Amino acid sequence: MPEETAKAALETAPVATIATLGQHEGRSVILRGWLYNLRESGKLLFPIFRDGTGTVQGVAHVKSVPPEVFEALKGLTQESSVIVTGKVRADQRAPGGFELDVQDLQVIQRVPESDPFPITLKEHGVDFLQERRHLWIRTPRQSAILRIRAEIMRAAAEYFDINGFIRTDPPVLTPAACEGTSTLFPVDYFGDPAYLTQSGQLYAEATALALGKVYSFGPTFRAEKSKTRRHLTEFWMVEPEVAFMDLDGLMDLAENYISYIVHSVLKNRAAELATIGRDLSRLDPIAPPFPRLRYDQAVEMLNEAHKKGELEQPFHYGNDFGSPDETWLSSQFDRPVMVHRYPADVKAFYMEPDPADPRYALCVDVLAPEGYGEVIGGSQRVSSLELLTQRIEQHHLPKEAFEWYIDLRRYGSVPHAGFGMGIERVVAWVCNLDHVRETIPFPRTLNRMYP
Ligand code: 4AD
Ligand code: MG
Repeated sequence: MPEETAKAALETAPVATIATLGQHEGRSVILRGWLYNLRESGKLLFPIFRDGTGTVQGVAHVKSVPPEVFEALKGLTQESSVIVTGKVRADQRAPGGFELDVQDLQVIQRVPESDPFPITLKEHGVDFLQERRHLWIRTPRQSAILRIRAEIMRAAAEYFDINGFIRTDPPVLTPAACEGTSTLFPVDYFGDPAYLTQSGQLYAEATALALGKVYSFGPTFRAEKSKTRRHLTEFWMVEPEVAFMDLDGLMDLAENYISYIVHSVLKNRAAELATIGRDLSRLDPIAPPFPRLRYDQAVEMLNEAHKKGELEQPFHYGNDFGSPDETWLSSQFDRPVMVHRYPADVKAFYMEPDPADPRYALCVDVLAPEGYGEVIGGSQRVSSLELLTQRIEQHHLPKEAFEWYIDLRRYGSVPHAGFGMGIERVVAWVCNLDHVRETIPFPRTLNRMYP
């Protein structure tokens, strides 16, 4: 190409993203991003750029780029911000399938050598990384997880939007507990006590009786003193609630819902799943029907496992499952397992008793495979005015704060059901992570409020 034409081609190059380089093969594009890594070998420089959509390796030979561009790139520091022009070349060996022949480079901010980006390509401890979470999220693995999280949230809303559910947003500041008083975060509300919501459920029940099929989707809070790999103090919950739905209907909904979300991720985040090295053969089989077990059957299985020495602790009938129990149970199936009809005593005040045997609640927990445990908790709701009032008293809940909720049983009460799904638990499972702290941009845990 004559020099003039080449220059003109560079000036008219379109701005592109790394994820869409395939649409520009053989042509020059402009990328805006950061230098992730640089390998130098004499006259050849191999920068790796990132732009939030992915990473791409560039190639710059001393003879193929203007001298000032070669100089600017040589020794350039990690995370310096750049605008780079280059020609897209298909390369089978490259992670995204393409490489970039660097033609031009503009450094927006050069990270000084004296104060380098703290997260290098070598291994760092978890504490070190968590303290620098605002920078850690730039690394390929962490940004892939956040992109998968976004897809999970998108699909989680989309399923309901295309199936006739109306999104209704419950308040975050609430006068009373939904999931028991022991894990409430108190707030001073102009001198009166208020709490950060543990679940939007009670409000979703009200909007379901107004609109039929609804869902809420927002942050929820639990002042849990647990340091497990499954607990955050602030997490996102999506909660459908449906008038005239029973427990069987709820389980059908749950299995279709989870399958839809997993397959959306498989379809739309294949590159990110590859980046994090996820074994797709564990996600492909996620499809209805999911196995359904009564609590009593699950307990039998746990007892057998204990006898065989697969579980350390014996399981005491009547308890809620502990983490090791859930882990063991959920490892027995290649898809999520739905455990239903727990003893009413271990479950929440709002759960409808089973008319066939009122010692059991019409509830379900969905346990994700590979040992991830509970991702969904839900139930049919008490619909009788008398029983609800009685339960509120038994649980020593402040009746005044629940008057509005009791009203729902005074005026046109109907059977209804709903569940809550914790987004971070689902992200941890889908991404096969050790801990929920990597599933949200800025995790809040017992020990951490910074950054
Ligand atoms: O089982 P939970 O406590 O159920 C409820 O809150 C119901 N009111 C929901 C409803 O029926 N609308 O919580 C629901 C889900 C759990 O299955 C889990 O996925 C997630 O929320 N979850 C947590 N996730 C992260 N950290 C925590 N501390 C969590 N607690 C619950
Ligand atoms: Mg639960």
